[in-house]
Amino acid sequence: MVAARITVNGKEAPISPAAPHTTTLDFLRERGLTGSKEGCAEGECGACSVLVARPGVNKPTDWVAVNACLVPVAALDGQEIITSEGLATAGEPGMPATLHPVQEEMAVRGGSQCGYCTPGFICSMAAEYYRPDRCAHAGPDSASGPDSGSGSGSGSGSGSGPADSIDHEHGPNGFDLHALSGNLCRCTGYRPIRDAAFAVGAPTDEDPLAQRREQSPPAPVATEYTQDDSAFLRKNTLAETLELLRERPDAVVVAGSTDWGVEVNIRSRRADCVVAVDRLPELRELRVESDHIELGAALTLTEIERRLDGDVPLLAELFPQFASRLIRNGATLGGNLGTGSPIGDSPPVLLALEASVVLADADGEREVPLADYFTGYRQSVRRPGELIRSVRIPLPLSPVSAFHKIAKRRFDDISSVAVAFALDVEDGIVRKARIGLGGVAATPVRALATEAALEGKPWATETVEAAARVLRGEGTPMDDHRASSLYRSAMLGQSLLKLYAQTTEAVSS
Ligand code: FES
Ligand code: FES
Repeated sequence: MVAARITVNGKEAPISPAAPHTTTLDFLRERGLTGSKEGCAEGECGACSVLVARPGVNKPTDWVAVNACLVPVAALDGQEIITSEGLATAGEPGMPATLHPVQEEMAVRGGSQCGYCTPGFICSMAAEYYRPDRCAHAGPDSASGPDSGSGSGSGSGSGSGPADSIDHEHGPNGFDLHALSGNLCRCTGYRPIRDAAFAVGAPTDEDPLAQRREQSPPAPVATEYTQDDSAFLRKNTLAETLELLRERPDAVVVAGSTDWGVEVNIRSRRADCVVAVDRLPELRELRVESDHIELGAALTLTEIERRLDGDVPLLAELFPQFASRLIRNGATLGGNLGTGSPIGDSPPVLLALEASVVLADADGEREVPLADYFTGYRQSVRRPGELIRSVRIPLPLSPVSAFHKIAKRRFDDISSVAVAFALDVEDGIVRKARIGLGGVAATPVRALATEAALEGKPWATETVEAAARVLRGEGTPMDDHRASSLYRSAMLGQSLLKLYAQTTEAVSS
């Protein structure tokens, strides 16, 4: 097997002697690439972000921003990344480098003060800069300067695009500010950063990273990276991976490492054996069949979001609230279900959608309704050596749906309570109600008593108020540092009242 290697800013480098648990951030900084910073080491600040070449949605390659503090460098064996140092274009000998357009805009619009967060912002901004469907809205890049763009988000900018696409979160150049939702700045203030984001144009034809999108990203490579008694392993196929897991049922299975990376950094956990599944083709399929949608367990949330493009409204509502774009670029449904966390945001939604999980091991596959999957706090029916292969969502979808997440920070926060609704209302009567809850018990749960209180009843104030009282009593919410049990119960009831207020008009006709 070829020694593990990574291409950084166009130059190939051996991963050795980094330990198998070494993060990409530490690997880069050890080599003098200190643009990427460590702010939190748990995926919350974005100071560490870098760009990775990944299979594209509309082009062969997308430049995807990820948190380098969470991804083990061994997981990028054979892959290609760009850091903030690699974005500028080197000048002639003796001449300064030419700043990348996003760097230029940040500089001239005052988007950086101490500069600690800036390289991370630059990388997240560059990923959005190269997003193909954004570029369609943007005019070409021109010589930048303080007067060359809108700088205000007021609708007159260097980019051109349909006026109705402009709001406080989307620039006239198609820039989606959610691309920066995982980046924190403590001293500049966000307005100049937004000004810079809304001022960038579209990449020119000569832009090397724009050209790079036209070629395929590096193919996944099998990895066997071992040091002392620990190993980071990646197989090429699902069958090989399942055989490996039969031999090593103790292995930690990772996809985007958005959860495991926190364990490694903050809780100093180490594993003898880590097995990566994020590039297995069998876990990356997305199929829409006549009676169900199949979502590969290793597709990132961003890939599902962009490929479904709103076809499952409840998922479309979930994704922006799930976590920042940086996290969603690595996180997977398989990972969110695999950890078995009672406060993961996808289980309430998938419970409301009546989803099931397809589990695979070396002996075959089985399908388990998600409602039967969780067995206790961070426990499930998944056996040692078994992988989540896919998530199945039955069709047709219930027409009335909503996801309400109660959390302290609007994006990129852990839920105090999460509630997902999927209702069929015909002729003013609730024919079917499915309600998934997170954060109110040791596992994600269905609100069965509330569903029963709604079904067969008129979708009317009296029914909803009675059902909201039932919903307040669902689960066994506890007091902790995020919320009190009383608050959690109160929020459950409010959530149903809010749904009713939001949807009454839509379903009463
Ligand atoms: Fe904060 Fe990586 S260091 S997200
Ligand atoms: Fe100082 Fe952002 S410029 S933290």
